[in-house]
Formats: sequence, structure tokens, C-alpha cells
Amino acid sequence: MDNQTEQWEFHSNSEAQTETLAAALAHLAVPGSLITLDGDLGAGKTAFSKAFAKHLGVPGIVNSPTFTLIKEYEGRLPLYHMDVYRISQDEAEGLGLDEYFFGTGVSLVEWASIIPDLLPPQRLELKIETLGPEQRIIRLIGYGEPYLQWCRSLAENGV
Ligand SMILES: Nc1ncnc2c1ncn2[C@@H]1O[C@H](COP(=O)(O)OP(=O)(O)OP(=O)(O)O)[C@@H](O)[C@H]1O
Ligand SMILES: [Mg+2]
Repeated sequence: MDNQTEQWEFHSNSEAQTETLAAALAHLAVPGSLITLDGDLGAGKTAFSKAFAKHLGVPGIVNSPTFTLIKEYEGRLPLYHMDVYRISQDEAEGLGLDEYFFGTGVSLVEWASIIPDLLPPQRLELKIETLGPEQRIIRLIGYGEPYLQWCRSLAENGV
């Protein structure tokens, strides 16, 4: 059953709480892990990514890759941070994203819902909904066995 999904919901009341989720996921990450991030402007996709990078052991500051599309960092594993907001799916096809998705690092993709056809079937989707100035609901949807396991482990143990 490779289209089986598992969902889990995380309620965040501050950027610091979002960081605890990012930290938990950074510890679960292995080579080839893929996490997609969707949500309105200012929802916290980049805030999540910065915290994830920190807990993956990336030294220094991780900024929004909006104008560069892809930025690479070195932590416990390589980190590929992408933001596809400004490109179309056609343009994205020329970027060779599979090299990143199936590489030795972890990929984080902001606005991934813009490029549905270019995403591998196995991934963890994060959808961030803004409820208030600091209130967010972060919905996690796992596709594929490793990510189903991540969701189960978060549901059982918390972050
Ligand atoms: N609970 C929270 N989780 C994450 N960020 C929060 C939270 N509460 C407030 N914030 C703030 O919301 C803002 C999120 O901005 P961020 O750049 O991460 O959004 P984004 O989703 O990447 O937007 P864009 O689509 O423009 O790139 C930051 O200023 C952050 O401090
Ligand atoms: Mg962003």
C-alpha cells in the first residue's frame, strides 16, 4: 500500500514551539529525507527551516532562499533548502531537483505545492495554517513507510 498516509497535527503558539517540532524532525532525518512546506506568506515555512537547520547542526544563519531557489548547507547531513515560490513547474523541471531529492542530504522545499509533479511520492508534507499572530496549526502528512513511521512516532511520543 504505497499511497497510505498518516497524519498528525501540531499546535504551535510561538516560534519557539515551532522550533521544538523542527528539532524532532531534524533528529529523524536521514539521507534522502524530503520535507515539503506549504502555507500562506508569513506562515512560518522559513522560520521552521531555520530551526530545522540549527538542529541538524548547520552552523551560522539560514536565510530565505527565495532569490536563489536552492541553498546548500552542511550539518550532520547536507541540507538543501529550496523555495519554489517564484518559478513555474515548467521552469522547475530544468533544475534537476531529483539530484537533491535522491542525494545524500535532506531537502526542505518551501511552496512545494507549486510543483506537485516534480515531487517524489515518498515525503513528509507540512501544511502551516495561521490562526493568529503566533498561533499556527502545522499538519504533517506522511507518504511512504519511513514518513508514516515519523508521524506514528510523533503521535506516540510527542515532540
Ligand atoms: N508559531 C510560530 N511559528 C513560526 N513562526 C512564527 C510563529 N509565530 C510567529 N511567527 C513569526 O512569523 C513569521 C514567519 O515568517 P516566515 O518568513 O518564516 O514565513 P514563510 O512561511 O517562510 O513566508 P514566505 O512564504 O513569505 O516565505 C516570522 O516572523 C516568525 O517569527
Ligand atoms: Mg519563506
